[in-house]
Amino acid sequence: MTFLRRNYGWMIVALLAVLPLIPLLKILTKEGESNIGMLYHISGEFAIRWMTAVLTCTPFFILFGVTNLFVRQTMGIATAIWSLLHFTLFIWAEGFLETFTQVNYVAGFMATLILIPLFISSNRKSMKRLNAIWKKLQRFAYVAILLSLIHVAILEKTWLIYAVVVSLGFMIRIPFVKEKIIRYRLRKA
Ligand code: HEM
Repeated sequence: MTFLRRNYGWMIVALLAVLPLIPLLKILTKEGESNIGMLYHISGEFAIRWMTAVLTCTPFFILFGVTNLFVRQTMGIATAIWSLLHFTLFIWAEGFLETFTQVNYVAGFMATLILIPLFISSNRKSMKRLNAIWKKLQRFAYVAILLSLIHVAILEKTWLIYAVVVSLGFMIRIPFVKEKIIRYRLRKA
């Protein structure tokens, strides 16, 4: 029971990240050209949703004082896995070299590359070992979301909602705004 009480947060995140794999696997097993569009759609959507979600963790902490390192790390892992899956499906359908034929694919590719070191260092051991560098490394997540938004915007798919959420989060993180919010929250408590 104590285990569940301590770990339910990241377990729910992991479940939410894994469940959409079921329809994806069903589509994968069906033959047909039209299915690849569906696979891009599902994997791309989940990649950007998790990326946006993980970037709202710090603003959420500033606003409500609630944070959980394991939940945050699981969200980061979900982001990387869905992005890599999206890219793998692309390579499988179009081939690796096709990545360099369009600006939007190159932007997506660069975002995926950034996610790899973030994914590898998304654990307590790396956090302790890298110390100050770890924090600097995590800031690259903003470059990754920017590149992903460029990728999706050029494709003329849904991007604005993610841009709004990330921009709001970024504004909340501005030291002056952050201090005001935390001071207000602590005064109310
Ligand atoms: C090498 C990296 C990538 C490649 C080659 C790639 C390729 C593609 C392709 C071919 C599509 C479908 C385009 C269409 O339907 O016309 C797509 C859609 C999409 N991609 Fe990527 N992508 C990459 C990385 C990423 C990353 C890192 C993200 C976000 C984290 C992302 C998010 C999306 C989204 C949200 C869509 C639109 C899905 C929809 O609504 O249909 N992609 N991508």
